[in-house]
Amino acid sequence: MGIPHFLVIPYPIPGHINPLMQLCHVLAKHGCKITFLNTEFSHKRTNNNNEQSQETINFVTLPDGLEPEDDRSDQKKVLFSIKRNMPPLLPKLIEEVNALDDENKICCIIVTFNMGWALEVGHNLGIKGVLLWTGSATSLAFCYSIPKLIDDGVIDSAGIYTKDQEIQLSPNMPKMDTKNVPWRTFDKIIFDHLAQQMQTMKLGHWWLCNTTYDLEHATFSISPKFLPIGPLMENDSNKSSFWQEDMTSLDWLDKQPSQSVVYVSFGSLAVMDQNQFNELALGLDLLDKPFLWVVRPSNDNKVNYAYPDEFLGTKGKIVSWLPQKKILNHPAIACFISHCGWNSTIEGVYSGIPFLCWPFATDQFTNKSYICDVGKVGFELDKDENGIVLKEEIKKKGEQLFQDQDIKERSLKLKELTLENIVEDGKSSKNLQNFINWAM
Ligand code: UDX
Repeated sequence: MGIPHFLVIPYPIPGHINPLMQLCHVLAKHGCKITFLNTEFSHKRTNNNNEQSQETINFVTLPDGLEPEDDRSDQKKVLFSIKRNMPPLLPKLIEEVNALDDENKICCIIVTFNMGWALEVGHNLGIKGVLLWTGSATSLAFCYSIPKLIDDGVIDSAGIYTKDQEIQLSPNMPKMDTKNVPWRTFDKIIFDHLAQQMQTMKLGHWWLCNTTYDLEHATFSISPKFLPIGPLMENDSNKSSFWQEDMTSLDWLDKQPSQSVVYVSFGSLAVMDQNQFNELALGLDLLDKPFLWVVRPSNDNKVNYAYPDEFLGTKGKIVSWLPQKKILNHPAIACFISHCGWNSTIEGVYSGIPFLCWPFATDQFTNKSYICDVGKVGFELDKDENGIVLKEEIKKKGEQLFQDQDIKERSLKLKELTLENIVEDGKSSKNLQNFINWAM
């Protein structure tokens, strides 16, 4: 019998590539063979940092159908171009990969969301399929429940809630506001795509989730397909980073007192307007603690922030991208101002760092509820009537968090509980082993 050979296909954004890459490292450690299919554009962008991965993972590429100069910050454009252009090319690529190693043919395709088309291609070729969901299991439960929510009249056929109410997807799950459903910022076209993808994802035998039973235990009763295998933390660096990581951040942190630094980052997609940017800058000044702030280059080079004239920033360091997992594990970090993307959420939990939550879109609102209401390891930064987080709010909640010993203790407890899942006999480790056995 050969070794299990996985073809893995991420949607080309760091929030999908990073956790899938982590999963690949775990699978490789278990003796599996990995072929990693990137879009050509995404591969070129990440290639320089991939040296370590190259040893264990075989990289292949297909074009995403766009021109090199096309604006890839327009996710709709990327999504639909991929859906049109990549499916007809995949069967040939699979044939070529299999021809190189007749003993160990691809036995299973793992995709992240938006790449459901690859499960269809695999299905037609008799290859098993699996989804790696990169958000929380709860957000997956919401998406899975779309047909029922429409039938029950909770949302209409465009995904818009019919009234502001609290809903509970299963008896033990926390109640959530309908206004915070993960698709709340989607237009009809993207909502239809989401609903259609959920149907396609049924071809996936497992829906692997980068989470733990303990974090979201009630969610797993929603469907037997849900399989928690997290936290996926095989490497403390994202080798597939789109941007150059600023390593001087670690030297700077070394010089800061223990648990003194506010870390500020909003992931790879979120964009704020100049007005909000000014409030954040001045809020960090006002809070008067050392801060490490990621001001990411915009994906389309269109947004160029200007720092407000009054901004001093004397206590801080501003970088364009950094090795986030290493940063979160540094003893100088005290708290994390985060947009609550699931990767950032799970990385913060893994490091035992309390949060100041600032959700922007998609699943980030449900993630915020888990952080603040279920785990009680963070505070939400409230917006004013114009939807702005004011500088005074940053100072107030920041100070509140620095003074709160209980929240620090709860964060460390949650960390311990989370780590137990990935020790040799941990629940996530066992799920992963069962999954590999199934794939074989
Ligand atoms: C997207 C969605 O926005 C998010 O809601 C969903 O849950 C996952 O996909 P993104 O917005 O990029 O992701 O946020 P997040 O999930 O937090 O992923 C960001 C990744 O970039 C994290 O793995 C983080 O470690 C990494 N990162 C961020 C860096 O490596 N360096 C940085 O400077 C900032």
